[in-house]
Amino acid sequence: MKIAVCGKGGSGKSTISALLAKEMAKNKNVLVLDTDESNYGLHSQLGMAAPKDLMEYFGGKTGFKEKQRAAPKKTQFWGLAANGSTSGQPAQQSRFFNKRWSFSDLPPEFVEEKAGVKLMAVGKIHNFGEGCACPMGILTREFLENLDLGKNDIVIVDTEAGTEHFGRGVDKDFDLILVVIDPSYESLRLSKKFDEFGSQCGCRVYFVLNKVEPDIKEEMLASVNCVNVVAEIPERREIFKASLKGEELDFELDEIKKLADFLEKS
Ligand SMILES: Nc1ncnc2c1ncn2[C@@H]1O[C@H](COP(=O)(O)OP(=O)(O)OP(=O)(O)O)[C@@H](O)[C@H]1O
Ligand SMILES: [Mg+2]
Repeated sequence: MKIAVCGKGGSGKSTISALLAKEMAKNKNVLVLDTDESNYGLHSQLGMAAPKDLMEYFGGKTGFKEKQRAAPKKTQFWGLAANGSTSGQPAQQSRFFNKRWSFSDLPPEFVEEKAGVKLMAVGKIHNFGEGCACPMGILTREFLENLDLGKNDIVIVDTEAGTEHFGRGVDKDFDLILVVIDPSYESLRLSKKFDEFGSQCGCRVYFVLNKVEPDIKEEMLASVNCVNVVAEIPERREIFKASLKGEELDFELDEIKKLADFLEKS
């Protein structure tokens, strides 16, 4: 199962990705894919070193762009039909991978691992003036398109803030989208947009309310499509403090257990 974790900046995407990955790794093989080119905290939340950018496997952004230029153009935009549906579209040969990958093909020098959770990062912006992050978006899409999963394999993708990945068509390869919503007007408003994107790419969308305090819970529920709310994660001081110090999120939450259980049955 390929799960995208999306939402507004700072809503708690990386926190939920890390906690969920640790929980799901008790029963599944879990790969967390960090596709956020700007933030550097996810590996600390998982208690790991930062993985080497997968982009380096392709010769860095320069090598990647050369491969992109050399490869024949696809005739159809990533197999998306006019209504956004991918059904019935034949899989196309990747321009960047010469064979399909499964978990056992992931190049070990680009994978960090701890307690059954693997972590990979597509690429970060490292230098002033190095150019935009579009190659990272393309690599994310190609990687996910090219990755075959066994029945116990789970990929959790921590996305960059906002909606750009939908514009890039990355989300068509997900089985479901978890939208993390914090108590803010912008987050609640965005939830409607994520619902729309989900139906356009033919993907189930579920909402995780985060940083929930008792006095605002009802208001949050009233503002989203509450049928699809699958978890309510409380505001917890120890989460905030661990992030402040760049420490591992080394504790368990019942709400995350329930969420993992729900996802495993989905
Ligand atoms: N349930 C929670 N209780 C308390 N603090 C939380 C909770 N969830 C997240 N936070 C805090 O909110 C901040 C943002 O969390 P996080 O980095 O996971 O968000 P994000 O959506 O990944 O952000 P970005 O868009 O920058 O990648 C961090 O300081 C984190 O500790
Ligand atoms: Mg993040």
